[in-house]
Amino acid sequence: MDNNLPTPNPKILELHRRLERIHAMGGTDRVERQHRQNKLSARERIAQLVDPDSFEEIGAHIESRATQLGMDKAVAPADGVVTGVGRIDGRVVYVFAQDFTVLGGSLGEMHAAKIQRIQDLALKSGVPIIGLNDSGGARIQEGVDALNGYGEIFKRNTWASGVIPQITVIMGPSAGGAVYSPALTDLIIMVRGTGQMFITGPDVIKSVTGESVDQDALGGADSQLRKSGVAHLACADDREALVSVRRLLSYLPANHVDEPPVLDSGDPHDRIGWSLARIIPEDSAKPYDVKEVIETLVDTGTFFELQAGYADNVVIGLGRMGGRSVGIVANQPRVLAGTLDINASDKLARFVRFCDAFNLAMVTLVDTPGYLPGTQQEFGGIIRHGAKVLYAYAEAVVPKVTVILRKAYGGAYLAMCSRSVGADWVLAWPSAEIAVMGPEGAAKIIFRDAIGKAENPDEERQRRTEDYRQRFAHPYVAAAHGHVDAVIDPEHTRHHVIRALMALYNKREDRPSRRHGNIPL
Ligand code: HXC
Repeated sequence: MDNNLPTPNPKILELHRRLERIHAMGGTDRVERQHRQNKLSARERIAQLVDPDSFEEIGAHIESRATQLGMDKAVAPADGVVTGVGRIDGRVVYVFAQDFTVLGGSLGEMHAAKIQRIQDLALKSGVPIIGLNDSGGARIQEGVDALNGYGEIFKRNTWASGVIPQITVIMGPSAGGAVYSPALTDLIIMVRGTGQMFITGPDVIKSVTGESVDQDALGGADSQLRKSGVAHLACADDREALVSVRRLLSYLPANHVDEPPVLDSGDPHDRIGWSLARIIPEDSAKPYDVKEVIETLVDTGTFFELQAGYADNVVIGLGRMGGRSVGIVANQPRVLAGTLDINASDKLARFVRFCDAFNLAMVTLVDTPGYLPGTQQEFGGIIRHGAKVLYAYAEAVVPKVTVILRKAYGGAYLAMCSRSVGADWVLAWPSAEIAVMGPEGAAKIIFRDAIGKAENPDEERQRRTEDYRQRFAHPYVAAAHGHVDAVIDPEHTRHHVIRALMALYNKREDRPSRRHGNIPL
């Protein structure tokens, strides 16, 4: 025995014993159960998310103060949530990960206080916060103190909105009012098979409405992505979801006064988009896939689509052009002919506001015949929802470049970031058709008398339609009147857009001072 070894300090040994217990979370059995369900533990998730050895835990020793309903005997390491700060690609982020192995990740008073603490730190420090959710919701034993904890979190979510990026990953249950913290954040990523969000579960639904639905069909990743539009991404497993968080952050600034990172891929700014000249069919009624246009324009491989599968008549996503982050919005002629409906309007408007909040320049690709007609849309409030698109674009102060690919008619022309609602730069392809309405509809209205009196009304209608098409269904009237800055060869679109963006990066625009606007919600 080496008598020179220092005697272990009992206080330090006690610290290590305590930390060991905390790091063991809910115990081997519960961690194994988590693994059997294809879920990582809270600590494994954080380790996967942040750069190696970058995590600094805050509040590991926190315990519940509750004594009711057996809580005085409950063993709850870290009170069921791991909180702290780490780095992603070297940039600081705050993280919390709910630990389902401890009291089902349920949220009690102290669990909530830990989340609030890092919300406060993230906001003060101006850096993103990432929430990894896996929880049975409000801790039943802690009653109103648990509810109060949620309220404090919601308030902080709201205060941080538009100041720092808030990203949520749903990696387990998220039920009842608990779903509203994720809903108040900027982006929600869900894991297929394990992530579920709902306000009331299948049993309550069965007893109230008589409907039968299982948990996954009700609130699983695909339902919340495709049916409700609540989620922005659905991932195969925890690992894929955590990689997606890292990728998302690579496009975003740390806060609303910071600039997004510049990551030049070396893709030449003047790379010619050979396919673009042929992408638009001769017949303007025929569809094409606008995602091919987006992929050709942006730096190779940088397009990251969000909310794919929901309101696919509009495509939204992040990308890079010349190494700089951009938000991309495009009508999708393959779905509902690229019309704007209620869901597409909501999807688009929220994304524009997200980009504007976080200094992401916007590129808008237009090919829309208008707002979708019909009683369903009118009674559903397309006036109110459609107005959000106008509001969002008119309010946005980031650089905004619009490219009109084909149809740009009526209110939808205005809404899709026209010059008049605030585009800084408007480009048009020679295939652009910019007018109050399409030739068929316009000819029927303005030549109604002439068509009615004609010997052959069908022939007359066709002749008048063709005449209108020749005179108005092109970009040159709009260009002649200054509503379009340049009519460009489609193959050179990337170069034109990057030049416009480069010229606009230092632009400053102010709006009248006010508490906040009153967007039609
Ligand atoms: C306390 C909870 C809990 C909760 C789960 N547990 N949810 N403890 N409060 N809310 C505990 C369980 O008792 C169990 O403890 C352990 O966590 C694991 O839970 P299991 O039920 O064994 O897991 P599983 O079979 O996977 O089911 C998961 C579940 C289920 C679907 C989430 O636990 C469940 O339905 N929980 C209640 C969900 C709920 O109604 N929450 C309140 C929502 S309302 P032991 O010791 O047995 O392992 C809400 C209001 C917020 O959140 C309002 C904000 C405004």
